[in-house]
This record gives sequence, C-alpha cells and structure tokens, in this order.
Amino acid sequence: MSKIVAFVGSPRKNGNVDTIIEKILDGANSSNSNIKKFYLNDMNIKGCQGCLYCRNVHDCAVKDDMQTIYKEIKDADYVIIGSPVYICQVSAQTKLMLDRLYPLTTIDKGKHIPRFGKKKLIMVYTQAAPFSFLFKKYFRYTSKHLKGMGLEHYKTFIATKAFDKNSTKSNKKLLDRAYKLGLSISNK
Ligand SMILES: Cc1cc2nc3c(=O)[nH]c(=O)nc-3n(C[C@H](O)[C@H](O)[C@H](O)COP(=O)(O)O)c2cc1C
Repeated sequence: MSKIVAFVGSPRKNGNVDTIIEKILDGANSSNSNIKKFYLNDMNIKGCQGCLYCRNVHDCAVKDDMQTIYKEIKDADYVIIGSPVYICQVSAQTKLMLDRLYPLTTIDKGKHIPRFGKKKLIMVYTQAAPFSFLFKKYFRYTSKHLKGMGLEHYKTFIATKAFDKNSTKSNKKLLDRAYKLGLSISNK
C-alpha cells in the first residue's frame, strides 16, 4: 500500500491548491492508499535558524511541528507539496517548510545525499497567470534542489487562471487530470 503525505501551502482551505490535492488524493484513495494531508498554515513552523545543528545530527534543533513533518516524510512513498504562486514563487508557508527540510540531506564530497531514503515528489502549483510556461523554470529549479533531500521529481501539476478561490472547482478537465494522477500513484 502506497503511503502518501500531502502538504497544502495555501492559506485558503478549499481553495485551488486544496481542491487539486484533494482530487489527487481521491484518485489515490480509490485503492486504499495510506494518506495524510496537512495544512501548513495551521502548523507551528518557525523559519530555519541557520544554526547548522542538522549538519552533524540527523535532526533539527527547533522542536516545533516540523518534527511531525519529518516523520511523515520519512515514512512516505509519495510526498505532495502544493503551493499557490505568490510573487512568482512559492507561498511563505511553503518556503518555511522547504527551508526546514535541510535535515533530510547530508553532504558527501560536495554532493547532497538523502539521509532518509528516496520518495517520489509531486508538486502542485496554482497561479492566476494564464500561461503554464511562465514559472516552469522556477518550478524545475525547485524540484531539482529537493532531490538532494530524497524528494525525487515524479510530476509537476500546474493550474492556470486560478485567481478566485473556486476557479478550479468547475474545471472538469483539470480535476480529471488530478484524479488520474492520484490513480497512477495508488497501490504502486
Ligand atoms: C500575495 C499574492 C501574490 C500572488 N502572486 C501571483 C503571481 O506572481 N503570479 C500569478 O500568476 N498569480 C499570483 N497570485 C494568484 C495566486 O497564485 C492564485 O490565486 C492561486 O491559485 C491561489 O491559490 P489558492 O486558491 O489555493 O489560495 C498571487 C496571489 C496573492 C494573494
């Protein structure tokens, strides 16, 4: 049974990111995967303090809700991270988590090596802009650097023209795509 953990990096519950992630999880759930979803905005996550404690110890010195996130990621086969595009980047809620993933990697001969195994990464982005190519370089760059933490790119899912909270809810084609993505990772 696939273990899937999803993180919603938008402050809007039931908004575009949440709707798409929910659809992916629906698809995955159809074959009884082990699924958890977290709202980053509800969690107590402090910004990385840059203390470098995690360079020597396989843990973070800051004891907050990231401890739950580390455990969930370590146990997962698939990690889903969803963020709205805010000023051409991920939301602050998402970035707080990404910076704090540093304990998941170690450096050997100048290369980042995952400390806790490899997981498949699905990134979900939603944006107001109508062109999916606009931020693709940034999306690729972000996924590339998460590989060192064991999060290996599996799929990037982009929703465009999604400014209003409900924009994606009536987009059947998009939601079908999300559902199929979920199906593709269930029971693998
Ligand atoms: C502070 C802020 C900054 C934004 N910056 C961008 C942007 O740079 N490019 C873009 O296409 N959309 C931008 N948007 C629109 C959001 O990406 C879009 O509404 C997204 O789908 C919201 O996701 P949600 O419904 O899950 O919260 C911005 C929205 C906000 C609130």
